Amino acid sequence: MAAGAGGEKRILCVGLVCLDVISVVDAYPAEDTDTRCLTQRWQRGGNASNSCTVLALLGAPCAFMGSLARGHAADFIVEDFQRRGVDVTHVTWQPQGDVPCACCVVSAASGSRTIVLHDTNLPDVTERDFARVDLAQYKWIHWEARNAAEQERMILRVERHNSALPPAQRIRTSVEVEKPRDELLPLLAHGDVVFISKDLAKHFGYNTAAEALRGLRSRVRPGATMICAWAEEGADALEPDGTLVHVDAFPPERLVDTLGAGDTFNAAVIFALSGGQSLRDALTFGCRIAGKKCGIHGYDGIV
Ligand code: ADP
Ligand code: FRU
Repeated sequence: MAAGAGGEKRILCVGLVCLDVISVVDAYPAEDTDTRCLTQRWQRGGNASNSCTVLALLGAPCAFMGSLARGHAADFIVEDFQRRGVDVTHVTWQPQGDVPCACCVVSAASGSRTIVLHDTNLPDVTERDFARVDLAQYKWIHWEARNAAEQERMILRVERHNSALPPAQRIRTSVEVEKPRDELLPLLAHGDVVFISKDLAKHFGYNTAAEALRGLRSRVRPGATMICAWAEEGADALEPDGTLVHVDAFPPERLVDTLGAGDTFNAAVIFALSGGQSLRDALTFGCRIAGKKCGIHGYDGIV
């Protein structure tokens, strides 16, 4: 759903869209071997883009903001966004650069996904692009950390917008810091909800979600909620008052495809929180929907 019936406010996800070329193999191949895969498909990918797919499937009016460059890959991507009912008004068409593309190997034996992304020369959306967004249409805006300095300025715009509004009308914000890159870390200090990945946690030397949340707490702003998903361990969250919430994973009968599990989890949590659910209920919903996703190829069938 792109626009909400009766003016329902929408959720906007800002970040990457790319083309995923997915080969499903019976077992992960050894280096420098020549094997056949079981199936192969193109899929629209990128964290923010995948989260939009899940939000749309959950029935939330949503929009994607990110960059594309004209060509076959972009045609496929836009058609797929439209098929899902994701609004693409805020896609920035870059005159130069190539659409990022990832080779993804999904192992049918384990459900693991191995991704090699070519994150090309395509410029990311900027504060100037974001200035064109009519904030009044949105109830929640989510950023996948990429060009952090520009993204910080986008968030500051939303904070200025919010400061003139009564609490109930404010846009809620979330940030996902997934990649362990130093230039992304300042974004931890922004957002009502901060999603921290297992990769980032491990980069800092933490071995559990709870350790990571406690250890990184000083980096988020007071009042923020922190969330860290940890694959088959489920997910933990830290309330602004320091209360830790843990929810177990919902393992599918058979793990078949974990590509985008984290993006699915984030979307389901945002969906639940934006609908007024408690943090524990939102984490449970996130793990339930993400667990379901791990049991199927792609996203059809998660709800
Ligand atoms: P990603 O690596 O895609 O960012 P995570 O590994 O952090 O994703 O997992 C996100 C969520 O997906 C977890 O909190 C969990 O609910 C679900 N999940 C992922 N892997 C598994 C698994 N092997 N078994 C059950 N649930 C899983
Ligand atoms: C899954 C994903 C893929 C994409 C890659 C980019 O989380 O978004 O769709 O290829 O990660 O890092």
